[in-house]
Amino acid sequence: MKYLKLFAAVIAPVLAATSWDNVHIGGGGGFVSGIVFHPSEKGLAYARTDIGGIYKLNSDDSWTPITDGIANSSNWHNWGIDALALDPQDPDIIYAAVGMYTNSWDPSNGSIMKSTDQGATWTFTSLSFKVGGNMPGRGNGERLAVDPQNSNIVYFGARSGNGLWKSTNAGQSFQKVTSFTAVGTYAPDPSDTYGYNSDLQGLTFITFDSTSGKTGGATSRIFVGTADNVTASVYVSENAGSTWSAVEDQPDTFFPHKCRLQPEEKALYLTYSDGTGPYDGTQGAVYRYDITTGVWDDITPVSGSSLYFGFGGLGVDLQEPGTLVVASLNSWWPDAQLFRSTDSGASWDPIWVWGSSGAMDRSHTMDVTLAPWIKTEFLDNDTKWLGWMIESLEIDPLDSNHWLYGTGLTIYGGHDLTNWGTSSKVTTKSLADGIEEYAVQEVKSVPGGTELLAAIADECGFTFLAQSDLGTAPSKAWDTPLWTTSISVDYAGNKVSNVVRVGNAAGNYMVALSSNGGSSWYINYATDTAKYGGQVAYSADADTILWSTSTSGVVRSANSASFSAVSSLPSNAVIASDKRNNKYFYAGSSATFYVSSNTASSFSSGGSLSGASSIRDIEAHPTIAGELYVSTDVGIFHSTDFGSSFTKLSGALTDTHRISLGKGSSASWNLYAFGDGSNGERLYGSADGGSSWTDIQGSSQTFGAIDGCRVGGSGNNADYVYVGTNGRGVFYGKVTLSGGSGTTSSTTKAAETSSTTQSSSTSSKSSTSSTSTTSSAVPTTTGTASHYQQCGGFSSRV
Ligand SMILES: *[C@@H]1O[C@H](CO)[C@@H](O)[C@H](O)[C@H]1NC(C)=O
Ligand SMILES: *[C@@H]1O[C@H](CO)[C@@H](O)[C@H](O)[C@H]1NC(C)=O
Ligand SMILES: *[C@@H]1O[C@H](CO)[C@@H](O)[C@H](O)[C@H]1NC(C)=O
Ligand SMILES: *[C@@H]1O[C@H](CO)[C@@H](O)[C@H](O)[C@H]1NC(C)=O
Repeated sequence: MKYLKLFAAVIAPVLAATSWDNVHIGGGGGFVSGIVFHPSEKGLAYARTDIGGIYKLNSDDSWTPITDGIANSSNWHNWGIDALALDPQDPDIIYAAVGMYTNSWDPSNGSIMKSTDQGATWTFTSLSFKVGGNMPGRGNGERLAVDPQNSNIVYFGARSGNGLWKSTNAGQSFQKVTSFTAVGTYAPDPSDTYGYNSDLQGLTFITFDSTSGKTGGATSRIFVGTADNVTASVYVSENAGSTWSAVEDQPDTFFPHKCRLQPEEKALYLTYSDGTGPYDGTQGAVYRYDITTGVWDDITPVSGSSLYFGFGGLGVDLQEPGTLVVASLNSWWPDAQLFRSTDSGASWDPIWVWGSSGAMDRSHTMDVTLAPWIKTEFLDNDTKWLGWMIESLEIDPLDSNHWLYGTGLTIYGGHDLTNWGTSSKVTTKSLADGIEEYAVQEVKSVPGGTELLAAIADECGFTFLAQSDLGTAPSKAWDTPLWTTSISVDYAGNKVSNVVRVGNAAGNYMVALSSNGGSSWYINYATDTAKYGGQVAYSADADTILWSTSTSGVVRSANSASFSAVSSLPSNAVIASDKRNNKYFYAGSSATFYVSSNTASSFSSGGSLSGASSIRDIEAHPTIAGELYVSTDVGIFHSTDFGSSFTKLSGALTDTHRISLGKGSSASWNLYAFGDGSNGERLYGSADGGSSWTDIQGSSQTFGAIDGCRVGGSGNNADYVYVGTNGRGVFYGKVTLSGGSGTTSSTTKAAETSSTTQSSSTSSKSSTSSTSTTSSAVPTTTGTASHYQQCGGFSSRV
């Protein structure tokens, strides 16, 4: 045996996945907090996101992720992008302020990262404080800017009372600007004990006046915005940042979101809202500030009862002085509103009006052909076509027809903006292809069944029946019922067309069933409208549902009877069903493993997991009754006797999280695990039943924090494995693992989902969402969560 193992270890080649591709859900799927065009390089633009990094625009309107290598398990917060700046004098240079949260959810200080090759590689300059890419106010900005006349000078406006920071060596180091004393007085909820809404949002934009002269080689006039509706929110320096003062006569009621210079007019345009975004806004304004005369003009497009929203996105046409477009930040009914002016805001043309028949008369057409599920689940079911959370709206500085704006769901835009005001309609097209910002809650590949079931936060979930479907944006999401979030999904091992999923919100029935592999669904009324969340497991013959809820402990429904408590299991237990024997279910909590042999009616303690104190995942073999793997803080345990006894796997992989079996290239099954192995905390694969492990993640691909990642080996396609991330969608890769005799012959696929990592941040952020959305007059569709609750920014990450 010793020799065999050694031999296996030696010949097992380290074949890391050469490449990981996104499963193509399409449409973006999350909040695009900022879009930045380069001022002189035509077509060069980047989109930043709050939990999924940065994307670069391609000439065919698609996007390419450029930060997939920067967010491994120890620096996952690098995918939270709070600001992005380009060097106006060098189209190859990008700066970004990175870090996810300023509260305890994120343990580390933030950075300013820089690329000198348009995002191919990055270097990091550490800051002495945190950065909040997924914090309130993240759509303001940009709070990072490069001096247009001096590439060495970079300013960053910090959160949390940390003030203004400046680099004079092109980002290699930053020093505090001590003469700038405003820190932004506003925190949305000072009593928030999570520290999420109680933190000062700080400085919100840096805008250079490129028409001003230079002082000491640097642009003289600089404007800085703060989140402040008490004292002042727009400050100016006339001497390249030596001294600062509040701009005189400025409006003081609302918070400025965007501040754009129109150099030929020598004017600033600013959008204001009564909240700092991205979910709020019931009042607002648009102002024009004439830099020469110092006069502020209120150019708000609407007033009185027509003004029930704040303003966010602001695009200034640099080719046509006087032309600009502003967007409602959030207008929940009947739709967002966009206004265009060609006379510096003296008059405005809305993109839709109420027609004489009482219906909306739109001057635009929708095109969601690149993500047809947006039509099925959103446009066909709602009047809110133009979106919500519109913080960034940009007109290509070199092309008056080309525009883009980010929403909570996608990026819209097009190439015929100057149709506005003519008899031709403006195209609003979903142009987010390549952006996959999904927060994935579960991935399952069903042996002999559906290739990929992906439970998703904010868009409910998607079914990809076969591998050949992975590159095609689905025509629908998981609907009837369409929930905001599906948190868990499982299939019945002996009847693989039978699938169950559970949702994550109170107020509706949060269990749905499918008998055609997830192609269509129906509500399971065995539940009530109070239970939600957690993890679900389906018995092998599809007659029993075991549900470890996040609200009501572990409950069970057999033969469609109402769910009742499983008193022998603790709340929040990790659960799984045996995939072959209908009577068996498994569960784990802390160090205790539980087994039921009576379709989850009752559980008793199973074999001991020596040394483990935390059970994270349970993976039952898809074709062999009684065979299962259990992932714990000390590694993986294996049982072949229905969990009566366990053997710890011998390979050097510890502190494992999600695990999965997947079809191997021989008759055997591969085992996949996120854990701490020879190359640190990564995704590993084993073809010899966990005796030896190969780093299949590779050093150029990161997935964010591994304790938030989902993994699912393909049940149907040898050596393919799916990875669900929190903010970068679903990846898949093929890695041929060799060596060893594999896990026992036959088939496998998983039943995992731990309810562990979610808790505090999810609940607090969900409440952020519901608070903000309920404040607006909005219709709620029956049996579904409200569409506008979608935002992509609700990280499940603690
Ligand atoms: C952030 O940096 C400061 C200054 O170096 C340091 O004192 C502090 O401990 C750091 N905070 C964290 C959370 O690492
Ligand atoms: C500042 O804005 C907040 C949020 O809209 C509001 O509650 C507060 O009353 C405002 N304060 C002042 C002084 O206007
Ligand atoms: C939206 O969908 C729900 C559930 O499918 C349906 O009941 C409702 O009528 C739809 N609303 C619209 C405006 O189409
Ligand atoms: C994560 O990235 C950091 C910074 O690049 C690196 O030092 C560390 O080794 C990486 N960890 C893993 C597990 O790849």
